[in-house]
Amino acid sequence: MRRLLETWVAVLTACALAGRASAGYGLSMFAAQSSPPDPCYDENGNPRRCIPDFVNSAFGKDVRVSSTCGAPAARYCVVTEKGEERTRDCHTCDAADPKKSHPPAYLTDLNNPHNLTCWQSENYAQYPQNVTLTLSLGKKFEVTYVSLQFCSPRPESMAIYKSMDYGKSWVPFQFYSTQCKKMYNRQNKATITKQNEQEAICTDSHTDMHPLTGGLIAFSTLDGRPSAHDFDNSPVLQDWVTATDIKVGGRCKCNGHASKCVKDREGNLVCECKHNTAGPECDRCKPFHYDRPWQRATAREANECVACHCNLHARRCRFNMELYKLSGRRSGGVCLNCRHNTAGRHCHYCKEGYYRDMTKSISHRRACKACDCHPVGAAGKTCNQTTGQCPCKDGVTGITCNRCAKGYQQSRSPIAPCIKIPVASPTSTYSSYEEPSDCESYCKASKGKMKITMKKYCKKDFAVQVHVLKGDKAGEWWKFTVNIISVYKQGGHRIRRGDQLLWVRAKDVACKCPKIKPGRKYLLLGSDDDAPGQSGVVADKGSLLIPWKDLWGRRLRKFQQRGKRGKC
Ligand SMILES: *[C@@H]1O[C@H](CO)[C@@H](O)[C@H](O)[C@H]1NC(C)=O
Ligand SMILES: *[C@@H]1O[C@H](CO)[C@@H](O)[C@H](O)[C@H]1NC(C)=O
Ligand SMILES: *[C@@H]1O[C@H](CO)[C@@H](O)[C@H](O)[C@H]1NC(C)=O
Repeated sequence: MRRLLETWVAVLTACALAGRASAGYGLSMFAAQSSPPDPCYDENGNPRRCIPDFVNSAFGKDVRVSSTCGAPAARYCVVTEKGEERTRDCHTCDAADPKKSHPPAYLTDLNNPHNLTCWQSENYAQYPQNVTLTLSLGKKFEVTYVSLQFCSPRPESMAIYKSMDYGKSWVPFQFYSTQCKKMYNRQNKATITKQNEQEAICTDSHTDMHPLTGGLIAFSTLDGRPSAHDFDNSPVLQDWVTATDIKVGGRCKCNGHASKCVKDREGNLVCECKHNTAGPECDRCKPFHYDRPWQRATAREANECVACHCNLHARRCRFNMELYKLSGRRSGGVCLNCRHNTAGRHCHYCKEGYYRDMTKSISHRRACKACDCHPVGAAGKTCNQTTGQCPCKDGVTGITCNRCAKGYQQSRSPIAPCIKIPVASPTSTYSSYEEPSDCESYCKASKGKMKITMKKYCKKDFAVQVHVLKGDKAGEWWKFTVNIISVYKQGGHRIRRGDQLLWVRAKDVACKCPKIKPGRKYLLLGSDDDAPGQSGVVADKGSLLIPWKDLWGRRLRKFQQRGKRGKC
C-alpha cells in the first residue's frame, strides 16, 4: 500500500489514496455469498443487484505528487515512538540510490508489513507550503474509504478532494486539521444533517490517534451521514461518494448492474454490465430495452431494463413516458419500424392492406397476409385487418368479394358487378309511377315495330347495347346507370364501353316510351342530345329501346360494316 513518509508534510490537497477498502455501508455482502455462476442473477435466473468487489483501485497506479525527496540527496529525520519514548531517527534520501530513494510509486505498491516502502516529500513542505498527491481512477468509482498509511506522524492538516470530471474540477471530501477554522474556515466536527449531506467536514480527531508513526487515516465517506442507512434511495449520497479521478480505495461504480469492471478496447476501465444495461457505469438501458426507465439496482429490486415487446417484428423502440404512466408504470416501450407488414405499438396487428393469418402466431414472419380483394367485386383494397373480409360492392359477397350474393346476378359493369335479378312481377318500381293520361298521344310518334332495320340504324346517331343496372329519379329526369356492352354506331359524343349514365325524361319513363327496367339488356338507338348532367347519353320517346336479343349482334355488325362503307 502506500504510506506517506515525512514529518514535514503539512498539507495535502487533492490527495486520493486508496487503502484497504471495506464495506462501508453493508453492501459488500453479495460478493461473499455462496457463488452462483453470475452474481447478477439468482439460482432461478432472476436478475438481482450486483456490485463489483471492493478493490484497492489505487494499486499500481501512478500518483502525481508535487514533491519528492532525494534530488539532490538530503538528510531527513523522523520522530518515532518506542514505548513511552520518542526518538529521532535521521537518514539520507537519495533519488539516485535505489536503496535510499522514496519515489511516489511506493505509495501504491504492494503493502508488505515486513518491508514498508514509503514515499517521502522534500523537507521544506511546511505550511504555507504544501504537498499535493493526485490519484486518477480513470472511471467513476463509488468511494467508500480513502485510506492513508503514514510512515511518519500524521500531518497536522490535510484535505481530501475528489473530482467527478476527470480532474477538471474538485470538491472537498474531508478535512483534517487541528485548526479547522484557520486552515479551512470550517467548524470542527460540524453536524451533518439531511440538508447538507454533501458537505465536507473538518475534524481534529486524527491527531490524538496512536501510533504516532505508521498510523492510518481512514476517511469513510458515508460515516455520520443521515441517509447512509438508505444509501440506495439517496441520490445525494450516491453522488457524494462518486469520484472519477481519484482512484481511491473504492469500487467501480456500476449502479448495481455489474459484478466486475474490465478494460475496454481503448484500455479504459468499464463495468461489465448485466441486467440489459449499458454504458461505462451501466447508467442506461441497452438498445431495444426501453420498456421502462433506467433505474439503479437496489437490494430489493434489480430494476433491470426490459426489452420492448415487438413480437419479433422490430429491432428498434423508444420509451414513451405518457404510455408508461397510463399502463400503471409497467410498460412504456413503443416499437419503431414494424416489419413483416405489422403495425401498432407492439407490432401486434397487421398494417392496412393486410390481415392476420390465424394459422400462424403473431410473431411469425408471415403472420400478416396481403388482402386479396377482387378488383371488380370489392369497393376497396383494404380488408378487415382481423378477418381479411374485403369491403364488397352492393350485391357482392365472399371474403374477397368474388361472387354475387343470393338474389343477384353478374353484370358486366365494374360499378355494379352484381345486380338484382329482376322480379317477374308486372308492377315494378317504374311501372308503379303514375301514368299520365295523355301518354297515348304523347308517345304516338315512337310507336313502331320492335324490328331493327338498316334504315332505322342509319337514321339514328348512335347504336349501343346497354345493360341497365339501376335507376334514380332526379327531378324531371330519370338517371339510369348502364353498362355499355357494345357500340355499333358512334355518335358525336364518342360513347365508350363501360359504365355510363343514361338520362330519360320522367314523363317518357312514366308513359313507358321508352319502356325501361333495371336488370335488363337493351339495344338503344338514339340521337346526340345533350345530357342534363355532366355526362351520359340521352334516350327519349324518339329513341329505339328494344329488349336485347343475342341474334342481333351479328346483324348489327353487318350494319356497322355497311355504314362504314357509306351505305347509309
Ligand atoms: C523491499 O521492497 C523494495 C521495493 O519493492 C525492494 O527493492 C527490496 O528488495 C525489498 N526488501 C526486502 C528485504 O524484501
Ligand atoms: C497548496 O499549494 C498549492 C500550489 O502548490 C496552492 O495552490 C494551494 O493554495 C495550497 N493550499 C494550501 C491549503 O495552502
Ligand atoms: C373486423 O371484423 C371483426 C369481426 O367481424 C369486427 O369485430 C371488427 O369490427 C372488424 N373491424 C373493422 C375495422 O371493421
